[in-house]
Amino acid sequence: MKTIMKPEFWKESVVYEIYPRSFKDSNNDGIGDIPGIRSKLDYLQQLGVDILWLTPVYVSPNVDYGYDIKEHRDIQPEYGTMDDWKELLDDVHRRGMKLIMDLVVNHTSDQHEWFQQAISSPDNPYRDYYIWQAPKEDGSAPNNWISYLGDSMWKLDEASNEYYLHSYSEKQPDLNWENPKVRHDMKEMMRFWLDLGIDGYRIDAVNMISKDTSFPDAPPSDKLQANAEGFYKNGPRIHEYLHELYTDVFSHYKMFTAGEAASVSIDDVKKYTNPDREEMSMVLMIEASKVCDADNDMWQSKDWSLHDLKEIIAKWEEDIYGQGWMGIYLSNHDHPRLVSYLGHEGEYRTDSAKMLAMFLLTLRGTPYIYQGDEIGMTNAEHMKTIEDVKEQQAQGYYKQMVEEKGEDPEVIMERIRAKARDNARTPMQWDDSEHAGFSTATPWIPAHSNKAEINVAQQLEDKDSVFHFYRKMIGIRKESSALIYGKYACELSDDPYIFAYTREWNDEHWLIILNFSKSSTDLQLPEQLVERIQQSELMIGTHGEHSEGVVQALKSGQQTTLHPYESLAFRGLSILDQ
Ligand code: NOJ
Repeated sequence: MKTIMKPEFWKESVVYEIYPRSFKDSNNDGIGDIPGIRSKLDYLQQLGVDILWLTPVYVSPNVDYGYDIKEHRDIQPEYGTMDDWKELLDDVHRRGMKLIMDLVVNHTSDQHEWFQQAISSPDNPYRDYYIWQAPKEDGSAPNNWISYLGDSMWKLDEASNEYYLHSYSEKQPDLNWENPKVRHDMKEMMRFWLDLGIDGYRIDAVNMISKDTSFPDAPPSDKLQANAEGFYKNGPRIHEYLHELYTDVFSHYKMFTAGEAASVSIDDVKKYTNPDREEMSMVLMIEASKVCDADNDMWQSKDWSLHDLKEIIAKWEEDIYGQGWMGIYLSNHDHPRLVSYLGHEGEYRTDSAKMLAMFLLTLRGTPYIYQGDEIGMTNAEHMKTIEDVKEQQAQGYYKQMVEEKGEDPEVIMERIRAKARDNARTPMQWDDSEHAGFSTATPWIPAHSNKAEINVAQQLEDKDSVFHFYRKMIGIRKESSALIYGKYACELSDDPYIFAYTREWNDEHWLIILNFSKSSTDLQLPEQLVERIQQSELMIGTHGEHSEGVVQALKSGQQTTLHPYESLAFRGLSILDQ
């Protein structure tokens, strides 16, 4: 317990995710780049974030925009040079910030030298860097595992009549972690960037690197990857591999690791992040960003209730307390925009974006802000047909549903418009100029026309903007041990509109009240919370003077009405310690 509660810089920091391709284009070729990121460090410093996470900037054929690596130790020319990257790292460090890189170790590009060697012949020394299996007797794939793109995870190499495994696209073959040489080379690569001075890694798809090497069929299910557990997710040797990486690499540097691990149980998270086990610093909580996904098809949405979200949050906040650590990841480059799926895109966009900022920055766990969420950017508007879609998972879904199953293209496009990863990848909206100040050239993916209302330049000027709300919330969080380390407890748990919780640490306590609804909502606090807030101060509210009136009523135990998305954060001294 003692080591788990140990203060660490990565628990006390706020991380900002940069998707370089869409952040800022410095040479006006329509593609964001590293000098572009450098030119915006003042902005990021003003926002107050401490750690920048760059999604992959390594050499890549861009099948999965960098998550298909061709060369691990060099920079993709369209993003700049190694010198540009080193200058970025120096600038970040000079400002007292930190930089982490994306570590993609489950797979490489099929253009990677290792795979080119491996596929050249079954006798090649690199053959065993990847996962090969003979066909079944009838020539079909070795088992029924389904890739993230919805097709078989196995691709036949006709020349050798063997299949190789790919959890994602067939152009992203999975590495064979059973092979000690793979582990050795991966560790060398990790040291290469750490020796250059980076501060940690976000580890991509980390819980997929160990597979059940008997390759059994998974029980049939409609749900994409529902039966992955134990077969290719959280597989048999996963903890052994992570401990080995920790011992041989991570423990030798002042750094942290944040594992992307979809489909993890709370017990898995405890195992991955309990410091006594020496595996990873934190697992990223992805579950909340999937609350609206239908159970058997992530492309379809379901009616979700606030109760569902409360349950997910309680699970991570309460059950992991004292036994591990997580990153809070309400959105990223793989999901629709935060305000579009958990908030309100229309009339209440600003209010709901502020409420979500308060939510993210008052939970236990290291908060991750995805670029553009701090100004309330919304889902894309340009995806009219599948030709407009750049990302491969949506393309894979369309192919499967329309071309193979004959579904109505418009029905499928409607789902893709709501869920495609392109939603989060439109250019960062710096100003209201033609391409949103991202570039003077036509961007690789179109800027949203709402750049006129939603942009950084305007929000920097407006003290009431979403940007300034994020800035204040980040400042408040950094000053408070209770918001960083404190115990979480859900209050008013049955309320269908209000999400309320406390955070407590030593003599400091917080009460957070979020009206998670587009309707005005009546609220009267139970006696024990009235007593609590009588001894507290409103540190921040989303609705200025109106919130002050609400506070007066709540403190005197009266019923009051919160505006849509109105949210309040109270701080006080613990009643027990008075
Ligand atoms: C998770 C990344 O966030 C996503 O963008 C990528 O496609 C997959 N892992 C595969 O690397």
